[in-house]
Amino acid sequence: MLRAVLVCLVFVLSSCEKKQGGGEAVGSGSAVVDEYEHEQARFDAERRPDKVIEALAIRPGSRVADVGAGSGLLTVHLARAVAPNGKVVATDVDGTVLGLLAQRLKAAKLDGVVETRVVGADTPGLEPASYDAILLAEVDHYFTDPAAWLREASKALKPGGRIVISNRIYHRAQTMASAKKAGLELLSESTPVTTHFIAVFVVPQPSEPKK
Ligand SMILES: C[S@@+](CC[C@H](N)C(=O)[O-])C[C@H]1O[C@@H](n2cnc3c(N)ncnc32)[C@H](O)[C@@H]1O
Repeated sequence: MLRAVLVCLVFVLSSCEKKQGGGEAVGSGSAVVDEYEHEQARFDAERRPDKVIEALAIRPGSRVADVGAGSGLLTVHLARAVAPNGKVVATDVDGTVLGLLAQRLKAAKLDGVVETRVVGADTPGLEPASYDAILLAEVDHYFTDPAAWLREASKALKPGGRIVISNRIYHRAQTMASAKKAGLELLSESTPVTTHFIAVFVVPQPSEPKK
């Protein structure tokens, strides 16, 4: 968080410099990019976002929600996966972190692919039957009633869409219990890093009536 605030500060200072001098503040601008790249490289090594993208099964043109997106370290990967004609809807209860996310996506020239939404703590804030996938990374443990939240969010999936939950291993039992209570079916699960699990859920389809 402290690093994110520092990045933000450098970004703001670099904008001021541009306004005062009238020219391009190349040095400070590249410092911001370096800072983003450094933070991203560390995050990617710790969390393996490539495995999250694989679990989401998204591709160019997909529409995906990144719930509790924070400052956007995963969002940037989602945006790259669905670009150029797909969409990432990045939600968070905290408008300040979504501001940082918007700056990160702009620096990566992916801002056109992402829409940010401030949501209430108990509301997914996603339109019905519209998403190929919904990602919850390190966020489901914050919900007051995770099963109710997941049930509501399921309505936002297109037929065959998936809900992918990734969190620290010690939240796994609660995640699994909530998903089961919400009526979701576990499709697959992996542990690409020792600290986190990735679980893929789908809404069971009603079986065909026998003729
Ligand atoms: C630990 S961060 C995870 C950020 C990012 N998803 C990741 O995996 O790196 C949790 C984020 O979830 C947000 N959050 C907490 N409760 C939420 C809720 N009920 N709905 C949406 N976002 C929430 C927090 O503001 C924070 O930005």
